[in-house]
Amino acid sequence: MQTQVAIIGAGPAGLLLSHLLHLNGIESVVLESRSRAEIEATIRAGVLEQGTMDILNQSGVGARMQREGVVHHGIELAFGGRRHRIDLTELTGRSITVYAQNEVIKDLVAARLAVDGKILFEVSDVSLHDLQGKTPSVRYTQLGEPAVLQADFVIGCDGFHGVSRPAIPENPRQDFQRSYPFGWFGILVEAPPSSDELIYAQHQRGFVLVSTRSPTVQRLYFQCDPKDDVDNWSDDRIWSELNTRLACSDGWALKEGRIFQKNIIGMRSFVSTPMQYGRLFLAGDAAHIVPPTGAKGLNLAVSDVRLLASGFEQFYRDGRQDLLAGYTEAALKRVWRAEHFSWWMTSMLHNFADASPFQQQLQRAELDYVVASRAAATALAENYVGMQF
Ligand code: FAD
Ligand code: DHB
Repeated sequence: MQTQVAIIGAGPAGLLLSHLLHLNGIESVVLESRSRAEIEATIRAGVLEQGTMDILNQSGVGARMQREGVVHHGIELAFGGRRHRIDLTELTGRSITVYAQNEVIKDLVAARLAVDGKILFEVSDVSLHDLQGKTPSVRYTQLGEPAVLQADFVIGCDGFHGVSRPAIPENPRQDFQRSYPFGWFGILVEAPPSSDELIYAQHQRGFVLVSTRSPTVQRLYFQCDPKDDVDNWSDDRIWSELNTRLACSDGWALKEGRIFQKNIIGMRSFVSTPMQYGRLFLAGDAAHIVPPTGAKGLNLAVSDVRLLASGFEQFYRDGRQDLLAGYTEAALKRVWRAEHFSWWMTSMLHNFADASPFQQQLQRAELDYVVASRAAATALAENYVGMQF
Protein backbone atom coordinates (compact mmCIF):
# COMPACT_ATOMS: atom_id res chain seq x y z
CA MET A 1 0.00 0.00 0.00
CA GLN A 2 1.15 3.54 -0.69
CA THR A 3 0.17 6.89 0.81
CA GLN A 4 1.58 10.38 1.30
CA VAL A 5 1.74 10.38 5.12
CA ALA A 6 1.85 7.20 7.22
CA ILE A 7 0.60 7.84 10.76
CA ILE A 8 1.25 5.41 13.60
CA GLY A 9 -1.32 5.60 16.40
CA ALA A 10 -5.00 6.65 16.46
CA GLY A 11 -4.87 8.78 19.59
CA PRO A 12 -5.79 12.45 19.50
CA ALA A 13 -2.51 13.32 17.75
CA GLY A 14 -2.75 10.75 14.94
CA LEU A 15 -6.46 11.17 14.25
CA LEU A 16 -6.41 14.97 14.26
CA LEU A 17 -3.35 15.04 11.99
CA SER A 18 -5.04 12.69 9.53
CA HIS A 19 -8.17 14.88 9.59
CA LEU A 20 -6.26 18.17 9.05
CA LEU A 21 -4.18 16.65 6.23
CA HIS A 22 -7.38 15.50 4.54
CA LEU A 23 -8.75 19.06 4.68
CA ASN A 24 -5.60 20.15 2.82
CA GLY A 25 -6.01 17.43 0.19
CA ILE A 26 -3.17 15.29 1.60
CA GLU A 27 -3.70 11.54 1.86
CA SER A 28 -2.77 9.54 4.95
CA VAL A 29 -3.20 6.07 6.46
CA VAL A 30 -3.43 5.58 10.25
CA LEU A 31 -2.14 2.30 11.75
CA GLU A 32 -3.52 1.53 15.24
CA SER A 33 -2.73 -1.48 17.42
CA ARG A 34 -6.01 -1.48 19.35
CA SER A 35 -9.63 -1.88 18.20
CA ARG A 36 -11.98 1.01 17.50
CA ALA A 37 -14.08 0.03 20.54
CA GLU A 38 -11.00 0.13 22.79
CA ILE A 39 -9.72 3.53 21.71
CA GLU A 40 -13.22 4.99 21.99
CA ALA A 41 -13.61 3.64 25.54
CA THR A 42 -10.24 4.61 27.05
CA ILE A 43 -10.87 7.18 29.79
CA ARG A 44 -8.15 9.82 30.00
CA ALA A 45 -8.08 13.60 29.77
CA GLY A 46 -10.95 15.99 30.25
CA VAL A 47 -9.71 19.57 29.89
CA LEU A 48 -9.42 21.26 26.49
CA GLU A 49 -7.62 24.58 26.14
CA GLN A 50 -9.26 27.34 24.16
CA GLY A 51 -6.76 26.78 21.29
CA THR A 52 -7.67 23.07 21.17
CA MET A 53 -11.37 23.93 21.05
CA ASP A 54 -10.71 26.47 18.31
CA ILE A 55 -8.92 23.99 16.07
CA LEU A 56 -11.61 21.33 16.55
CA ASN A 57 -14.30 23.90 15.72
CA GLN A 58 -12.47 25.42 12.76
CA SER A 59 -11.79 22.01 11.24
CA GLY A 60 -15.46 21.00 11.48
CA VAL A 61 -15.32 18.37 14.26
CA GLY A 62 -16.45 20.55 17.17
CA ALA A 63 -20.25 20.33 16.91
CA ARG A 64 -20.80 17.70 19.62
CA MET A 65 -18.14 19.30 21.84
CA GLN A 66 -20.05 22.59 21.58
CA ARG A 67 -23.29 20.87 22.54
CA GLU A 68 -22.05 18.52 25.25
CA GLY A 69 -18.81 20.05 26.52
CA VAL A 70 -19.03 22.55 29.36
CA VAL A 71 -17.13 25.83 29.23
CA HIS A 72 -15.45 26.70 32.55
CA HIS A 73 -14.36 30.24 33.36
CA GLY A 74 -12.48 29.46 36.56
CA ILE A 75 -10.91 26.80 38.76
CA GLU A 76 -10.60 26.55 42.52
CA LEU A 77 -7.50 25.92 44.60
CA ALA A 78 -8.31 24.41 48.00
CA PHE A 79 -5.86 24.32 50.92
CA GLY A 80 -5.85 24.96 54.65
CA GLY A 81 -9.58 24.16 54.81
CA ARG A 82 -10.53 26.98 52.40
CA ARG A 83 -11.32 27.26 48.70
CA HIS A 84 -10.01 30.09 46.51
CA ARG A 85 -11.24 30.87 43.00
CA ILE A 86 -8.92 31.66 40.10
CA ASP A 87 -11.02 33.54 37.54
CA LEU A 88 -9.46 32.33 34.29
CA THR A 89 -11.60 34.45 31.99
CA GLU A 90 -11.26 37.67 33.94
CA LEU A 91 -7.47 37.22 34.14
CA THR A 92 -6.86 36.05 30.56
CA GLY A 93 -9.99 36.61 28.45
CA ARG A 94 -9.93 32.87 27.74
CA SER A 95 -11.58 29.75 29.11
CA ILE A 96 -11.37 25.94 29.01
CA THR A 97 -13.90 23.28 28.05
CA VAL A 98 -14.45 20.04 29.93
CA TYR A 99 -15.09 17.39 27.28
CA ALA A 100 -13.65 13.89 27.60
CA GLN A 101 -10.75 12.76 25.43
CA ASN A 102 -12.59 9.60 24.36
CA GLU A 103 -15.43 11.77 23.07
CA VAL A 104 -12.88 13.74 20.99
CA ILE A 105 -11.62 10.38 19.70
CA LYS A 106 -15.15 9.29 18.74
CA ASP A 107 -15.73 12.58 16.87
CA LEU A 108 -12.42 12.29 14.97
CA VAL A 109 -12.90 8.62 14.05
CA ALA A 110 -16.41 9.40 12.79
CA ALA A 111 -15.10 12.34 10.72
CA ARG A 112 -12.34 10.24 9.14
CA LEU A 113 -14.61 7.28 8.34
CA ALA A 114 -17.33 9.57 6.92
CA VAL A 115 -14.96 10.49 4.06
CA ASP A 116 -13.51 6.97 3.70
CA GLY A 117 -10.36 7.92 5.60
CA LYS A 118 -8.12 4.89 6.15
CA ILE A 119 -7.66 3.79 9.77
CA LEU A 120 -6.35 0.24 10.09
CA PHE A 121 -7.26 -1.06 13.56
CA GLU A 122 -5.69 -4.01 15.40
CA VAL A 123 -2.41 -4.05 13.48
CA SER A 124 0.66 -5.56 15.16
CA ASP A 125 4.45 -5.89 14.66
CA VAL A 126 4.75 -2.29 13.47
CA SER A 127 8.30 -1.35 12.44
CA LEU A 128 9.78 1.70 10.68
CA HIS A 129 12.24 1.56 7.76
CA ASP A 130 14.37 3.80 5.52
CA LEU A 131 13.62 6.91 7.52
CA GLN A 132 16.60 8.80 6.13
CA GLY A 133 15.61 8.23 2.50
CA LYS A 134 12.85 9.76 0.38
CA THR A 135 10.68 6.63 0.48
CA PRO A 136 10.33 5.53 4.10
CA SER A 137 8.03 2.60 4.90
CA VAL A 138 6.21 0.94 7.75
CA ARG A 139 5.88 -2.82 8.05
CA TYR A 140 3.03 -4.34 10.05
CA THR A 141 0.81 -7.38 10.40
CA GLN A 142 -2.95 -7.31 9.93
CA LEU A 143 -5.21 -10.36 10.27
CA GLY A 144 -2.08 -12.52 10.41
CA GLU A 145 -0.75 -11.20 7.09
CA PRO A 146 2.46 -9.14 6.86
CA ALA A 147 2.07 -5.88 4.92
CA VAL A 148 4.07 -2.78 3.94
CA LEU A 149 2.92 0.83 3.82
CA GLN A 150 5.09 3.12 1.71
CA ALA A 151 4.89 6.86 2.24
CA ASP A 152 6.63 10.20 1.76
CA PHE A 153 6.68 10.70 5.56
CA VAL A 154 6.09 8.65 8.72
CA ILE A 155 4.56 10.31 11.79
CA GLY A 156 4.95 8.63 15.18
CA CYS A 157 1.78 9.42 17.15
CA ASP A 158 1.96 6.15 19.08
CA GLY A 159 2.20 7.46 22.62
CA PHE A 160 4.91 7.03 25.23
CA HIS A 161 5.25 3.23 24.83
CA GLY A 162 5.15 3.21 21.02
CA VAL A 163 7.78 2.05 18.53
CA SER A 164 8.44 5.36 16.77
CA ARG A 165 10.64 7.16 19.29
CA PRO A 166 12.98 4.15 19.69
CA ALA A 167 13.39 4.19 15.87
CA ILE A 168 15.51 7.34 16.33
CA PRO A 169 19.06 6.19 17.14
CA GLU A 170 20.58 7.07 20.52
CA ASN A 171 22.77 9.54 18.67
CA PRO A 172 21.21 12.16 17.99
CA ARG A 173 18.40 11.38 20.48
CA GLN A 174 18.45 13.03 23.88
CA ASP A 175 15.88 12.26 26.58
CA PHE A 176 15.13 14.40 29.63
CA GLN A 177 13.01 13.00 32.43
CA ARG A 178 11.80 13.12 35.98
CA SER A 179 9.53 10.63 37.71
CA TYR A 180 7.42 11.44 40.76
CA PRO A 181 7.12 9.30 43.89
CA PHE A 182 3.31 9.23 43.65
CA GLY A 183 0.49 8.46 41.24
CA TRP A 184 -3.16 9.36 40.79
CA PHE A 185 -6.04 7.09 41.75
CA GLY A 186 -8.85 7.97 39.32
CA ILE A 187 -12.52 7.12 39.78
CA LEU A 188 -15.69 7.63 37.76
CA VAL A 189 -18.80 8.14 39.85
CA GLU A 190 -22.52 8.21 39.12
CA ALA A 191 -23.49 11.44 40.87
CA PRO A 192 -24.36 15.05 40.13
CA PRO A 193 -21.46 17.54 40.09
CA SER A 194 -20.20 18.61 43.53
CA SER A 195 -18.88 21.90 42.20
CA ASP A 196 -19.46 24.16 39.18
CA GLU A 197 -15.71 24.33 38.62
CA LEU A 198 -12.73 21.98 38.94
CA ILE A 199 -11.16 21.90 42.40
CA TYR A 200 -7.41 21.31 42.80
CA ALA A 201 -6.89 20.55 46.51
CA GLN A 202 -3.67 20.35 48.49
CA HIS A 203 -3.74 18.47 51.80
CA GLN A 204 -1.12 16.90 54.07
CA ARG A 205 -2.55 13.45 53.20
CA GLY A 206 -2.19 14.24 49.50
CA PHE A 207 -3.64 16.01 46.46
CA VAL A 208 -7.25 15.69 45.21
CA LEU A 209 -8.77 16.82 41.91
CA VAL A 210 -12.54 17.15 41.63
CA SER A 211 -13.48 17.12 37.95
CA THR A 212 -16.59 16.24 36.00
CA ARG A 213 -17.76 14.47 32.87
CA SER A 214 -21.49 15.22 32.63
CA PRO A 215 -24.47 16.19 34.79
CA THR A 216 -24.61 12.55 35.93
CA VAL A 217 -20.97 11.34 35.86
CA GLN A 218 -18.11 12.79 37.90
CA ARG A 219 -14.35 12.27 37.63
CA LEU A 220 -12.19 12.44 40.74
CA TYR A 221 -8.51 11.77 41.31
CA PHE A 222 -6.48 11.53 44.50
CA GLN A 223 -2.75 11.21 45.08
CA CYS A 224 -1.71 7.64 45.89
CA ASP A 225 1.26 5.30 45.97
CA PRO A 226 1.90 4.49 42.27
CA LYS A 227 2.48 0.83 43.25
CA ASP A 228 -0.82 0.58 45.14
CA ASP A 229 -3.57 -1.73 43.86
CA VAL A 230 -7.15 -0.61 43.19
CA ASP A 231 -8.31 -3.74 45.06
CA ASN A 232 -6.90 -2.23 48.28
CA TRP A 233 -9.46 0.57 48.01
CA SER A 234 -13.06 -0.24 48.90
CA ASP A 235 -15.62 2.41 48.00
CA ASP A 236 -15.98 3.32 51.70
CA ARG A 237 -12.23 3.80 52.06
CA ILE A 238 -12.14 6.02 48.94
CA TRP A 239 -14.98 8.27 50.17
CA SER A 240 -13.48 8.52 53.63
CA GLU A 241 -10.08 9.53 52.20
CA LEU A 242 -11.61 12.05 49.80
CA ASN A 243 -13.80 13.61 52.50
CA THR A 244 -10.83 13.96 54.86
CA ARG A 245 -8.67 15.63 52.23
CA LEU A 246 -11.45 17.93 51.01
CA ALA A 247 -12.79 18.98 54.43
CA CYS A 248 -13.71 22.65 54.17
CA SER A 249 -14.67 25.28 56.74
CA ASP A 250 -17.64 26.56 54.68
CA GLY A 251 -19.60 23.32 54.93
CA TRP A 252 -19.11 22.35 51.26
CA ALA A 253 -19.09 18.57 50.79
CA LEU A 254 -18.68 16.06 47.98
CA LYS A 255 -21.74 14.43 46.50
CA GLU A 256 -21.15 10.69 46.69
CA GLY A 257 -22.48 8.04 44.33
CA ARG A 258 -21.78 4.63 42.80
CA ILE A 259 -18.13 4.25 41.78
CA PHE A 260 -18.04 2.39 38.47
CA GLN A 261 -14.42 2.68 37.44
CA LYS A 262 -11.11 2.76 39.35
CA ASN A 263 -7.59 3.07 37.96
CA ILE A 264 -4.10 4.15 39.03
CA ILE A 265 -1.75 6.16 36.83
CA GLY A 266 1.93 6.88 37.33
CA MET A 267 3.34 10.36 36.84
CA ARG A 268 6.39 11.51 34.95
CA SER A 269 7.85 14.42 33.06
CA PHE A 270 9.67 13.43 29.88
CA VAL A 271 10.94 15.16 26.74
CA SER A 272 12.76 13.58 23.82
CA THR A 273 14.61 15.64 21.24
CA PRO A 274 14.85 15.92 18.25
CA MET A 275 11.23 15.39 17.24
CA GLN A 276 12.32 14.81 13.64
CA TYR A 277 14.73 12.22 12.24
CA GLY A 278 14.93 12.25 8.44
CA ARG A 279 11.36 11.62 7.24
CA LEU A 280 10.09 10.58 10.68
CA PHE A 281 8.32 13.15 12.87
CA LEU A 282 7.09 12.51 16.44
CA ALA A 283 3.97 14.16 17.89
CA GLY A 284 2.21 14.07 21.27
CA ASP A 285 3.04 11.58 24.01
CA ALA A 286 5.47 9.76 21.66
CA ALA A 287 7.83 12.70 22.20
CA HIS A 288 6.85 14.15 25.58
CA ILE A 289 4.90 13.41 28.76
CA VAL A 290 3.72 15.77 31.47
CA PRO A 291 2.26 14.88 34.87
CA PRO A 292 -1.51 15.40 34.52
CA THR A 293 -1.83 18.17 37.13
CA GLY A 294 -1.74 20.97 34.55
CA ALA A 295 -4.10 19.19 32.10
CA LYS A 296 -1.63 19.75 29.28
CA GLY A 297 -0.90 16.36 27.60
CA LEU A 298 -3.75 16.21 25.09
CA ASN A 299 -3.43 19.93 24.39
CA LEU A 300 0.29 19.57 23.62
CA ALA A 301 -0.47 16.70 21.23
CA VAL A 302 -2.88 19.03 19.43
CA SER A 303 -0.35 21.87 19.23
CA ASP A 304 2.31 19.53 17.75
CA VAL A 305 -0.16 18.39 15.12
CA ARG A 306 -1.09 21.94 14.26
CA LEU A 307 2.55 22.66 13.41
CA LEU A 308 2.91 19.46 11.39
CA ALA A 309 -0.27 20.12 9.43
CA SER A 310 1.03 23.58 8.40
CA GLY A 311 4.41 22.07 7.51
CA PHE A 312 2.88 19.42 5.24
CA GLU A 313 0.51 21.93 3.70
CA GLN A 314 3.52 24.07 2.75
CA PHE A 315 5.51 21.06 1.52
CA TYR A 316 2.81 19.66 -0.74
CA ARG A 317 1.65 23.09 -1.96
CA ASP A 318 4.98 24.56 -3.03
CA GLY A 319 7.68 22.05 -2.22
CA ARG A 320 9.20 24.12 0.59
CA GLN A 321 10.49 22.38 3.70
CA ASP A 322 11.28 25.27 6.04
CA LEU A 323 8.28 24.76 8.35
CA LEU A 324 8.98 21.03 8.59
CA ALA A 325 12.68 21.69 9.18
CA GLY A 326 11.80 24.07 12.03
CA TYR A 327 9.35 21.61 13.63
CA THR A 328 11.49 20.40 16.54
CA GLU A 329 12.44 23.91 17.58
CA ALA A 330 8.91 25.34 17.29
CA ALA A 331 7.24 22.39 19.03
CA LEU A 332 9.74 22.17 21.88
CA LYS A 333 9.26 25.82 22.83
CA ARG A 334 5.65 25.12 23.73
CA VAL A 335 6.49 21.70 25.15
CA TRP A 336 9.03 23.07 27.64
CA ARG A 337 6.63 25.82 28.75
CA ALA A 338 4.02 23.14 29.47
CA GLU A 339 6.65 20.91 31.13
CA HIS A 340 7.53 23.71 33.49
CA PHE A 341 3.90 24.55 34.26
CA SER A 342 2.94 20.90 34.87
CA TRP A 343 5.96 20.33 37.13
CA TRP A 344 5.18 23.55 39.02
CA MET A 345 1.49 22.69 39.56
CA THR A 346 2.47 19.16 40.60
CA SER A 347 5.10 20.43 43.06
CA MET A 348 2.78 23.05 44.55
CA LEU A 349 -0.18 20.73 45.07
CA HIS A 350 1.17 17.28 46.01
CA ASN A 351 2.45 15.92 49.26
CA PHE A 352 6.12 14.88 49.00
CA ALA A 353 6.94 12.27 51.66
CA ASP A 354 10.53 13.51 51.97
CA ALA A 355 9.68 17.23 52.20
CA SER A 356 11.29 18.92 55.21
CA PRO A 357 9.17 21.23 57.42
CA PHE A 358 10.98 24.11 55.68
CA GLN A 359 9.89 22.88 52.23
CA GLN A 360 6.33 22.41 53.49
CA GLN A 361 6.22 26.03 54.61
CA LEU A 362 7.54 27.15 51.21
CA GLN A 363 4.80 25.16 49.47
CA ARG A 364 2.16 26.87 51.61
CA ALA A 365 3.73 30.29 50.99
CA GLU A 366 3.51 29.68 47.26
CA LEU A 367 -0.18 28.71 47.42
CA ASP A 368 -0.93 31.77 49.57
CA TYR A 369 0.85 33.95 47.00
CA VAL A 370 -0.95 32.47 43.98
CA VAL A 371 -4.39 33.18 45.46
CA ALA A 372 -3.47 36.59 46.92
CA SER A 373 -1.53 38.17 44.06
CA ARG A 374 -3.21 39.06 40.76
CA ALA A 375 0.17 38.75 39.02
CA ALA A 376 0.76 35.23 40.34
CA ALA A 377 -2.83 34.15 39.66
CA THR A 378 -2.50 35.48 36.10
CA ALA A 379 0.67 33.44 35.57
CA LEU A 380 -1.21 30.31 36.59
CA ALA A 381 -4.30 31.23 34.55
CA GLU A 382 -2.52 32.04 31.27
CA ASN A 383 -0.66 28.74 31.37
CA TYR A 384 -3.77 26.79 32.35
CA VAL A 385 -5.91 28.14 29.50
CA GLY A 386 -2.92 27.67 27.15
CA MET A 387 -0.36 30.18 25.96
CA GLN A 388 -1.31 32.00 22.75
CA PHE A 389 0.06 30.45 19.56
P1 FAD B 1 -2.12 8.44 22.90
O1 FAD B 1 -3.43 8.98 23.32
O2 FAD B 1 -1.35 7.63 23.88
O3 FAD B 1 -2.37 7.59 21.58
C1 FAD B 1 -1.41 6.72 21.04
C2 FAD B 1 -2.11 5.64 20.24
O4 FAD B 1 -1.11 4.85 19.58
C3 FAD B 1 -2.92 4.70 21.09
O5 FAD B 1 -4.23 4.56 20.57
C4 FAD B 1 -2.13 3.40 21.04
O6 FAD B 1 -2.98 2.24 21.11
C5 FAD B 1 -1.44 3.49 19.70
N1 FAD B 1 -0.20 2.71 19.61
C6 FAD B 1 0.76 2.55 20.56
N2 FAD B 1 1.75 1.79 20.10
C7 FAD B 1 1.44 1.46 18.83
C8 FAD B 1 2.07 0.68 17.83
N3 FAD B 1 3.25 0.09 18.06
N4 FAD B 1 1.46 0.52 16.65
C9 FAD B 1 0.25 1.13 16.38
N5 FAD B 1 -0.40 1.88 17.30
C10 FAD B 1 0.19 2.05 18.51
N6 FAD B 1 -4.12 15.79 28.89
C11 FAD B 1 -4.78 16.98 28.81
O7 FAD B 1 -4.48 17.77 27.90
N7 FAD B 1 -5.78 17.35 29.67
C12 FAD B 1 -6.13 16.53 30.69
O8 FAD B 1 -7.07 16.84 31.43
C13 FAD B 1 -5.44 15.28 30.84
N8 FAD B 1 -5.78 14.40 31.81
C14 FAD B 1 -5.22 13.15 31.81
C15 FAD B 1 -5.65 12.25 32.75
C16 FAD B 1 -5.14 10.96 32.76
C17 FAD B 1 -5.65 9.99 33.79
C18 FAD B 1 -4.15 10.56 31.79
C19 FAD B 1 -3.58 9.15 31.78
C20 FAD B 1 -3.70 11.46 30.87
C21 FAD B 1 -4.23 12.74 30.86
N9 FAD B 1 -3.84 13.67 29.90
C22 FAD B 1 -4.44 14.91 29.87
C23 FAD B 1 -2.84 13.31 28.90
C24 FAD B 1 -3.46 12.88 27.57
O9 FAD B 1 -4.40 11.84 27.77
C25 FAD B 1 -2.34 12.41 26.60
O10 FAD B 1 -1.34 13.39 26.58
C26 FAD B 1 -2.90 12.18 25.18
O11 FAD B 1 -3.64 11.00 25.11
C27 FAD B 1 -1.75 12.11 24.15
O12 FAD B 1 -2.28 11.81 22.88
P2 FAD B 1 -1.41 11.03 21.80
O13 FAD B 1 -2.27 10.92 20.61
O14 FAD B 1 -0.08 11.65 21.70
O15 FAD B 1 -1.14 9.60 22.44
C1 DHB C 1 -8.93 16.11 34.30
C2 DHB C 1 -7.64 15.63 34.24
C3 DHB C 1 -6.60 16.45 34.58
O1 DHB C 1 -5.34 16.01 34.53
C4 DHB C 1 -6.82 17.77 34.98
O2 DHB C 1 -5.77 18.55 35.34
C5 DHB C 1 -8.10 18.26 34.99
C6 DHB C 1 -9.17 17.42 34.65
C7 DHB C 1 -10.05 15.21 33.95
O3 DHB C 1 -9.80 14.05 33.58
O4 DHB C 1 -11.21 15.64 34.05
